[in-house]
Amino acid sequence: MGQKRLQHSFLGKSLHWFFVPLFGYGVFKQIENKEQLNDLGLLISEMLFAVAFLLFLMFRFIYMKRRKTALPSETSKIQLIAAKLVHTSMYFVLTGIAISGLGIGTLFWLGYKDGLLLETIIWVHELLFSTILWLISIHILAAIYHRIQHDFVWSSMVPFFKEKVK
Ligand code: HEM
Ligand code: HEM
Repeated sequence: MGQKRLQHSFLGKSLHWFFVPLFGYGVFKQIENKEQLNDLGLLISEMLFAVAFLLFLMFRFIYMKRRKTALPSETSKIQLIAAKLVHTSMYFVLTGIAISGLGIGTLFWLGYKDGLLLETIIWVHELLFSTILWLISIHILAAIYHRIQHDFVWSSMVPFFKEKVK
């Protein structure tokens, strides 16, 4: 078909894959209940993690914004929009998880350990977490779909089960 096969850059792939254990770590060491935040050491380490997470996301977003998608040039407009929507939503929702976490931590720090505002932000934090699980699932299903389509989108980013060039 003469289709140019785009490979994401080494930095693009590194940022994409480094994020997976970073997010996994954030989920793994999640706060189980807000009373744990009475431990000042834990509160500070959670806040620092959220700031590092945010800075990483911002850097990745700025770098990747100027990169092209690996979707083939004949991809339909609706599919291009859908891909962009899922990718952009992932950045928004992940940012929201970190910012709401920082909001919870700040309120706790200021002594507002109960009340409607804190409960609402915790609710938003958890809602955003459920949302990101849906988005990541859709994203992985889409990647598998492309692998089956054999259009080289998978191999542009994923280092295993690579497509063979005929
Ligand atoms: C924490 C989990 C993941 C997140 C948050 C995520 C997020 C993203 C985002 C935002 C992009 C757009 C490029 C960028 O800004 O970096 C992207 C591209 C891509 N991801 Fe993921 N990803 C995840 C896991 C995976 C997994 C497990 C696979 C495959 C099994 C995968 C396959 C791909 C592929 C093939 C692309 C390239 C799409 C294109 O060029 O248009 N991702 N990912
Ligand atoms: C990027 C950083 C963060 C990630 C990835 C993250 C992740 C999570 C996850 C996965 C949950 C459980 C959601 C659920 O089961 O529905 C959770 C709950 C929670 N997180 Fe975070 N979080 C982050 C930052 C923070 C920060 C900075 C704080 C506060 C200092 C915080 C405080 C809480 C609280 C209070 C809950 C609710 C616990 C409960 O069920 O009562 N999070 N977070």
